[in-house]
Amino acid sequence: MFKSGIDQDALVEMFAKASAQQGEALRKAVSEATLKAMQGRELTVANIRGVLKTVTQAASSGAAKNMVPAVDAEALLEKAFAGMDAALLQAVQAQRAALQQFVSQGVEINNKQMKSALANLEKMEDVFFSTVSKAAEGAGGTLKGPWEQVLETMKVKGTGTGAQAKTSLEALMSQAQAALREGRSSGLRSAQALMDSYAALVSGVLDTWGKAPPVRAADLPPYAAAAGDASRGKAVYAAACAGCHGPEGKGGPKGGAVTDASYLALVSDQYLRTTVIAGRTDLGMPDWRGYSPGQPLTAQQISDVVAWLIAQRRPVPGRPVSAKEG
Ligand code: HEC
Repeated sequence: MFKSGIDQDALVEMFAKASAQQGEALRKAVSEATLKAMQGRELTVANIRGVLKTVTQAASSGAAKNMVPAVDAEALLEKAFAGMDAALLQAVQAQRAALQQFVSQGVEINNKQMKSALANLEKMEDVFFSTVSKAAEGAGGTLKGPWEQVLETMKVKGTGTGAQAKTSLEALMSQAQAALREGRSSGLRSAQALMDSYAALVSGVLDTWGKAPPVRAADLPPYAAAAGDASRGKAVYAAACAGCHGPEGKGGPKGGAVTDASYLALVSDQYLRTTVIAGRTDLGMPDWRGYSPGQPLTAQQISDVVAWLIAQRRPVPGRPVSAKEG
């Protein structure tokens, strides 16, 4: 049942029973199943083809069984295609991230393996179309027309995968040219060693995006620490928090007020520190690792932004300004 890491039966069943209103749910389910299957293996072109083929077949056989009135096969297949596109787009992004590492380490763009990796990226949209249309042909019967229609439309519109591949290639090329100008290039042997692990690296990137990486105890910021410097904390706030809580902490598009006098009078310094470290991931606030992508707050920045929050406290009659004592 779990051939190539995909629960085909579940997909078939979903497509067989889907009603017209469930389009978005179908797209998401396909995207998740495709992504999950890709995460389980090395991201070579052959493996990507295998996953796309299996998903196309499952969607086709489900769509062929669908008896829900007012559902046309083309609409279902279109969702299947869109779901695969969304997943493949992430695979392309993972490829870009991996290639970017190589370029920044000085692997030259005309290195043989680099060339073929770039060529694979470039032809990702073609791989997508050819694999789906071949698998769809196999489905045959009544779905032939609808599949042709979907593929035709998408060829004209262009896929997200294709667009992402194109911008990735452009970015990599200009990055490589900059590296060349700076005279960075690594020896052939180390380049070779890097490129040998390309497929594994790409799947590693995709896996990491899929799961939050485990936190090593050594990387955790200290639970308690003296308050830092409020004026430096102001800058940390502006960079890491203002986007959600507004420039002065009075509330913003994605978070409520954090400098509200009553709120600050109620919570202790340690509570503020704990919140900055742990976030409110239940409510959409990231933890200390997530405020700026790839750049966790340092222990110093945490202490500083907490100092800034504390400095926003206003005296409340009958109560010490700092809640530490309470
Ligand atoms: C992606 C948006 C986002 C970012 C970035 C963000 N927050 Fe929040 N924050 C939230 C949301 C959502 C909540 C929960 C709802 C609320 O209280 O506004 C929250 C809650 C809080 C709370 C109240 C927690 C409680 O339960 O008492 C504090 C304090 C806070 N944030 C401080 C910060 C600080 C300091 C930063 C920067 C280091 C920050 N936030 C960055 C979205 C964000």
